[in-house]
Amino acid sequence: MKNMQQKKQIHIEVHFTPNHLDEMQLKDKNIVIIDVLRASTTIVTALHHGAKEIIPVSTVENAVKISGSLFGDVTLRAGERNAKMIEGFNLGNSPSEYTEEVVKGKSIILMTTNGSVAIVKGKHAQHLVVAGFVNMRPVVQFMGELESDFMIICAGKENHFCLEDAVCAGRIINELEKNYKSDFVLDDAAVAASTLDKTFGKNILKMLKSSEHGQYLTSIGFGDDLKVCSEIDSMDALPTLVGNILRSGKKPAA
Ligand code: MLT
Repeated sequence: MKNMQQKKQIHIEVHFTPNHLDEMQLKDKNIVIIDVLRASTTIVTALHHGAKEIIPVSTVENAVKISGSLFGDVTLRAGERNAKMIEGFNLGNSPSEYTEEVVKGKSIILMTTNGSVAIVKGKHAQHLVVAGFVNMRPVVQFMGELESDFMIICAGKENHFCLEDAVCAGRIINELEKNYKSDFVLDDAAVAASTLDKTFGKNILKMLKSSEHGQYLTSIGFGDDLKVCSEIDSMDALPTLVGNILRSGKKPAA
């Protein structure tokens, strides 16, 4: 009898917030971190525009401490509290601030309420990449070619589920299933995320505008950021954590 080749099983689990996870649970795992509004999109934009590296930190104190030991002219302190720029920092968390002129060749120390904190938790991961709608293609290609189990962790909003990260997680899963032949085994949260994408992913900008954080950003004058964050595959940077530092990983073939 002919030896039937079995498709490789890839287990995907989704976490709608990182709060119940600690560093040790993420050790040696393959991880995708999502914070569509806005840390993921800002990180991808900075690397796409030539930033040398991003150093995510989980407290303002750490941002200040690390920047004190680096050269002032090539280091920028960036991030937000309640989505607004932190006093004494050079940049906020709006992707549109991260132009080539501002970030090229720079090391950026980034502190955000949810996104950078989630990334720091994954510092002992085997592989950790940062995803948003803007870099869907390189993320899907990386996970598809890795052919290994992985976790998608949504940064969420202060311990809560948020729609935009869940829809983005679902889109990654749906694109993988469309483009790769592995046998993807989804946990219940991954099934839910995939279904949310099929419903809310039809109009990403509309979904972002209706989301709680999208409405908050609009109310404080950052409504234009939603459009930037909604643009699928507008950039090809794949932020990849090595040690404590994010650099742009491999790019997919065109
Ligand atoms: C976060 O990490 O909580 C966010 O990216 C918040 C924001 O600046 O919109």
